[in-house]
Amino acid sequence: MGMIGEDKILEIRGKSSIVEVVSDHLTLKKMGQNYVGLCPFHAENTPSFTVNEEKGIFHCFGCGVGGNIFSFLMQFEHLSFPEAVEKVAKRYGVQLDRLERPFAKNQRSDRLYRLNERAAAYFHKALSAHPEGKRALQYLKTRGIDERTSRRFYLGYAPSSGPGLAAFLQRDGWPLRDAVSIALVTDRGNDKYGDKFFGRLIFPIIDAGGKVTGFGGRTLGDGLPKYLNSAETPLFHKGAQLYGLFQAKEGIRSMDRVVVVEGYLDVLALSQAGLSWTVATMGTALTPDHVRLLRRYTKNVIALFDGDEAGRKAAARSFEIFVEGGLLGQAAFLPQGEDPDTFVRSRGRQALESVLEQAVPMADYYFTWLQGRHGANIEGKSQIAQEVSRVLAKVTSPFEVDLLSRRAAEFLGIREELLRHQPDKAGKAVTNQGQASPAAHSGRIPEDRAESSLVALMLRFPEVLRRLEKEEFLERIVHPGWKETLACILSEWRERGEVNLARLTLNLPPHQASALAALAIQGESIQENESRQMTEDCLLHLHLKYLKGLESDLCRAIRLAEEKMDEKARKERILEWQEVVQKERNLEQQRYTLRTGLR
Ligand code: GTP
Ligand code: MN
Repeated sequence: MGMIGEDKILEIRGKSSIVEVVSDHLTLKKMGQNYVGLCPFHAENTPSFTVNEEKGIFHCFGCGVGGNIFSFLMQFEHLSFPEAVEKVAKRYGVQLDRLERPFAKNQRSDRLYRLNERAAAYFHKALSAHPEGKRALQYLKTRGIDERTSRRFYLGYAPSSGPGLAAFLQRDGWPLRDAVSIALVTDRGNDKYGDKFFGRLIFPIIDAGGKVTGFGGRTLGDGLPKYLNSAETPLFHKGAQLYGLFQAKEGIRSMDRVVVVEGYLDVLALSQAGLSWTVATMGTALTPDHVRLLRRYTKNVIALFDGDEAGRKAAARSFEIFVEGGLLGQAAFLPQGEDPDTFVRSRGRQALESVLEQAVPMADYYFTWLQGRHGANIEGKSQIAQEVSRVLAKVTSPFEVDLLSRRAAEFLGIREELLRHQPDKAGKAVTNQGQASPAAHSGRIPEDRAESSLVALMLRFPEVLRRLEKEEFLERIVHPGWKETLACILSEWRERGEVNLARLTLNLPPHQASALAALAIQGESIQENESRQMTEDCLLHLHLKYLKGLESDLCRAIRLAEEKMDEKARKERILEWQEVVQKERNLEQQRYTLRTGLR
């Protein structure tokens, strides 16, 4: 991998906007000095993901992730650092030297995406140019799809006669092995290749970033299978992708909601009717990954189900999926015998809107469904309680557990405590709150607020840096992460006479960079006139803590000397101990004066 120079990195940082880059992937709203949104890294319903443009950092107050524009992309898109830098450089037109470009694992997938794009263009062109394309256009007409929609979704046609896609790609100079690996082409052996799709209307599947990941193809008549989808490939995962998301993204943002349907043609029909905020699963039930994907854009997800028995069952099952994906979700139902496409075409947009308006919270639907299934007698209730608590155990937010268990209790007439405690196999009660929180990991050194406060103060006030330069305080910092951070800040300051947060976060390990970003945002609330006293207070606290540690070490040494009857050592340790205690008293006196002065 080529090394990218620090100056280049800072240039890219300077030209880029973290708010813009994050907004490519989730919706941010301005709040005071910051932008906030729903965190893409953990399940939440109230936005605690915070981005600060001026400082170029992000931080989630819910789960603690954070960092700069590069670490965002590294975590969000699973890129290496040079890949993330290259990506931002590209977006903002900063040239990287050839040597600086990463030999990314992504070079291969970039090539595969381009190949898919080429194939999509081939299909799209065939729709209007190939002699068979007429039949496909005719079919679209009978399905009520107009030309605008057809273009918007970049629909295509895979001819069943003529040289076909494999031949086209070969002539175009693409290695067909690549085309096989993304399931566009089948390997027939002996260097012969055949098309996967032929005689089908083609729906390119485009991800939120605009890349073609796969294809769906529908027969024009009654052939079987009715739909053929790309196989699972390195680019295509139907359990984690949604058809139409690319086209729906803007609508979802502006309406702050999304409708989830089942079929390609349902998306087309709804979008054409003006409900552009519609996406579809592709022949699979909704998965938690789908929900997580949508959660980046809005928390108002309405799943639209058929009104029949199968649809109702699917809706009930979805509650658990939503919960796992970190959203509560709503369910709306069409009249029996209709799917979204036929419904909106026969009854119009208004009718569909009112179906959506009648959406019910998925939880309520689920509770009612359970009641219908198990009955209201004691046995039924106990089964319901077990089932509900099993699902509630998957809810990550304690606030939501609270809300849902109260709601379930009301709905079902079951005592709330029964729902919160799920008996495990041994019959022992396990509470939701009992799950180990990340902070509860054993062996972690407890953080001292004074240590992080000093960091926040140093980041904000140069006079604090000037003060701390003179103080030997680093040895009194216990937390290794903060110690390293403080040392970095001080050396930045000594070398350059300023502290650049972007540069700092580049040089620190990710979790520390993340914590630093958090502090920089929190630090904004510190008033200038408090900064001096706060600094002294932190220093005194740390010094005192250090002396207390020393004192207890000495006490132990004194006891040891007594046991060994080493009178000389005992006397020495006692003298040292007295000195430490005297220092402690002085510091305590100083702190008292400082604090009364603070008031
Ligand atoms: P139209 O008949 O074109 O209106 O399709 P539909 O969307 O109403 O079809 P249906 O409700 O049968 O299917 C919904 C979705 O399931 C489709 O959009 C496909 O993604 C998927 N699907 C349907 N039939 C098949 C099939 O035979 N094979 C596969 N792999 N997927 C299918
Ligand atoms: Mn249909």
